Amino acid sequence: MTTQAQTKQEIAPLRIGDKAPNFQANTTFGPVEFDNYRTDHWTILFSHPADFTPVCTTELLAFSEQRDWFLERETKLIAVSIDSIHSHIAWVQNVKEKTGIEFNFPIIADTNKEVANLYGMIHPEASSTATVRTVFVIDPEGTIRLIITYPLNVGRNIEEVKRVLTALQVADVEKVALPANWKPGEKVIVPPPRSLKEVEINKEKSYEKIDFYLQKKDLQREVSF
Ligand code: BEZ
Repeated sequence: MTTQAQTKQEIAPLRIGDKAPNFQANTTFGPVEFDNYRTDHWTILFSHPADFTPVCTTELLAFSEQRDWFLERETKLIAVSIDSIHSHIAWVQNVKEKTGIEFNFPIIADTNKEVANLYGMIHPEASSTATVRTVFVIDPEGTIRLIITYPLNVGRNIEEVKRVLTALQVADVEKVALPANWKPGEKVIVPPPRSLKEVEINKEKSYEKIDFYLQKKDLQREVSF
């Protein structure tokens, strides 16, 4: 028999920079091969503890309201919980009947906990039977770029998910870093110089300069939010 301590040691947690593991799953949109689903897109894979629960309902409604915003940024959403496909379908229909909003992204029915275990979404001290609220941001190459975990009783901030996705995309394209609380329209951080020559080059630039290692600049394009 496997003890909880053994399980904790044996399953290496996924980390930023790891390849997102592939899986096949049944979803409210039909069968999904995850590698195919996410190809050429950014992907947000997020788990919720259970269907027909209040916090989860508010979260999936909030993600649904922002689905087109994510698609405009080449980003697909996909949700997962260990509920059955029948439970998911009944919940989607119930929420649509009560609110007029239909969850507009696939929800994985992970009854055998394959996805939950692969992605470390079950935190036994929080619940041995339900996934906690994780968010995995995966880039188009299939690399995990961000992992956020929320507890069972606190809903996620979808605006923060939008902000950090935008920040990751800006960082990749512009080769910059983003300061604390950064939002589109604000200055970005110039990567610190890696040579004395770069220190001299930066001196000529009209950057906002705190010191040689902390310099900010405006982006030369507008980033919408
Ligand atoms: C909720 O979504 O409201 C919820 C789900 C599981 C545990 C606690 C709260």
